Amino acid sequence: MANLGIKKTMIFSITHWNFEVMHLKNRFNEMFSLEGRVALVTGAGKGIGQAIAVAMAEAGADIILHTHQTSLDETIRLLEQIGRNYATFTLDLSVPEIIVEAVQRLLLTYQVDILVNNAGVIKRTEARDYHYEDWSQVLNTNLNSLFLLTQSIAQPMLERRCGKIINIASLLSFQGGINVVAYTASKHAVMGLTKSLANEWAYSGIQVNAIAPGYIVTENTRPLRENDQRMLEIESRIPTGRWGKPEDLGGAAVFLASKGSDYVNGHTLVVDGGWMVR
Ligand SMILES: NC(=O)c1ccc[n+]([C@@H]2O[C@H](COP(=O)([O-])OP(=O)(O)OC[C@H]3O[C@@H](n4cnc5c(N)ncnc54)[C@H](O)[C@@H]3O)[C@@H](O)[C@H]2O)c1
Repeated sequence: MANLGIKKTMIFSITHWNFEVMHLKNRFNEMFSLEGRVALVTGAGKGIGQAIAVAMAEAGADIILHTHQTSLDETIRLLEQIGRNYATFTLDLSVPEIIVEAVQRLLLTYQVDILVNNAGVIKRTEARDYHYEDWSQVLNTNLNSLFLLTQSIAQPMLERRCGKIINIASLLSFQGGINVVAYTASKHAVMGLTKSLANEWAYSGIQVNAIAPGYIVTENTRPLRENDQRMLEIESRIPTGRWGKPEDLGGAAVFLASKGSDYVNGHTLVVDGGWMVR
């Protein structure tokens, strides 16, 4: 009988413990789940945009995949594996004049809860020879269209008093870079814009934050990796001892899109394997 008593107590405490674990698990899910949310990810066909779209889908969101001149086939295949709904949205972000109307059309069909401004372009030339066309293309894509897209997507968010905006900044939001004058100017501006919009919209329940990726293996950094000396110089300066993978950005993006970051405003989260603290 005495043994049975002990067992009963154990069963009770294990059941109680299971209940506590379930309760914590539910609270954890509530904090980080994106279930029931719709995320628009720009430049979702490859690289960082693709990885963020997949991470958000894994966290429960349905995704509007934006692209221009990049196939979405692989991203769609990955989302279908996860089992999320998706829609596609094609728009050339290097032409700011067409952004507002296109976004207004999109908003007739979809409610966007999360916006990830990921699409971006880089042109490498010494500043003294930098062509104005390249300057314009980089600034138009990385900054001017980003602002117009954000302004348009934010209108219904402001009415609903709820929304998450995540801008993809860069280490070149902090540093000067080499031969990338337009890119550096645009990414410094993206970080400034993030703070400015966060400041204006925090009171309306919208969090605007940024992620600054370190050196990530994508098309954007291919020329650096094709130069053996530059590739090794960069790698040896990264405290983790390796270049980043697009998937390394997924956790930060899900966090900034989730309830877990509701009191985080205007922050640029550096995800760089330690580059900036070296
Ligand atoms: N790879 C890195 O190391 C790194 C580091 C810091 C920041 N970033 C930023 O991350 C973002 C994603 O870049 P990535 O590294 O995945 O490179 P990537 O070249 O693989 O992806 C760029 C994406 O932007 C889209 N895009 C380019 N021009 C466009 C246009 N005119 N209209 C619409 N879409 C356009 C492309 O379709 C593509 O999907 C960019 O904003 C980039 O500046 C990358």
